[in-house]
Amino acid sequence: MKNPFLIGTKIYFRALEPEDAPLLVAWVNDPEVTRTLELFYRPRNLQAEREFIESMNKSEQDVVFAIVVKETDAAIGVAGLHRINFKERHAVFSIFIGEKSEWGKGYGTEATALMVGYAFETLNLNRVSLQVYEYNQRGIRAYEKVGFVREGVLRQEHYYAGRYWDTIAMAILKEEWEAKKRP
Ligand SMILES: CC(C)(COP(=O)(O)OP(=O)(O)OC[C@H]1O[C@@H](n2cnc3c(N)ncnc32)[C@H](O)[C@@H]1OP(=O)(O)O)[C@@H](O)C(=O)NCCC(=O)NCCS
Repeated sequence: MKNPFLIGTKIYFRALEPEDAPLLVAWVNDPEVTRTLELFYRPRNLQAEREFIESMNKSEQDVVFAIVVKETDAAIGVAGLHRINFKERHAVFSIFIGEKSEWGKGYGTEATALMVGYAFETLNLNRVSLQVYEYNQRGIRAYEKVGFVREGVLRQEHYYAGRYWDTIAMAILKEEWEAKKRP
C-alpha cells in the first residue's frame, strides 16, 4: 500500500495527489461514468482537475480520497464528504469508481462503508446524506447495503437523455450505523 490513510478489506483510501489529475480527466469525461453523476455534464480538462484536487485539499468543508485497490495499488475512483457542517454534524457523501472494469466487485459498497465509518467515528458527525438518480440501481443497492435509508423522492429533479427522472434522497444516522455494527 502507498500512503494509506484508511484501510479496508479490499481497498484503502489515500490522499488525492496532483499526479492523479490525468486519471480524473479520463474518468469524469467518460459518458458511462458521468451518466449517474450530477456535476459532470460539461467537459473538464486537466487544469480543472488539478484545481479540484488543490481546492479539496484546502477546504475544511470537504474531505476527498482516492479509492485504491489493495492488491494492485491502482487508484480506481474518488470518494468524498462535502458540505461538512460541524455545528449540525452532517455531511454529504459522494463517490465514483471511474474504472468501469472495477464496477460490481464490491469496492463501491466497501468505500461507502469506510467513508461512513470515518464520518461517524473520526469526524464525529451524526448524519451522512446523499442523492442518487432513480436509474442508478447499482448505487442504490450499494448504499442500502451500508445502511442508508430512503428519505424521500425529488420528483423529476434530474434531466438526462431527453427526459426527467426522479432523484432519491438517502441518509444514514450515527445511531443506525452503530446498531448495524452490533452483532
Ligand atoms: C455506484 C458505484 C459507486 C457502486 O460501486 P460498485 O463497486 O460498482 O458496487 P458494488 O459492487 O459494491 O455493489 C453493487 C450492488 O448493486 C448490484 N447491482 C448491480 N447492477 C444492478 C442493477 N442493474 N440493478 C440492481 N442492482 C444492481 C450488485 O449486484 C451489488 O449488489 P449485491 O452485492 O447485493 O449483489 C459505482 O458503480 C460507480 O462509481 N458508478 C459510476 C458513478 C456513480 O454512479 N456514482 C454514484 C453517484 S450517486
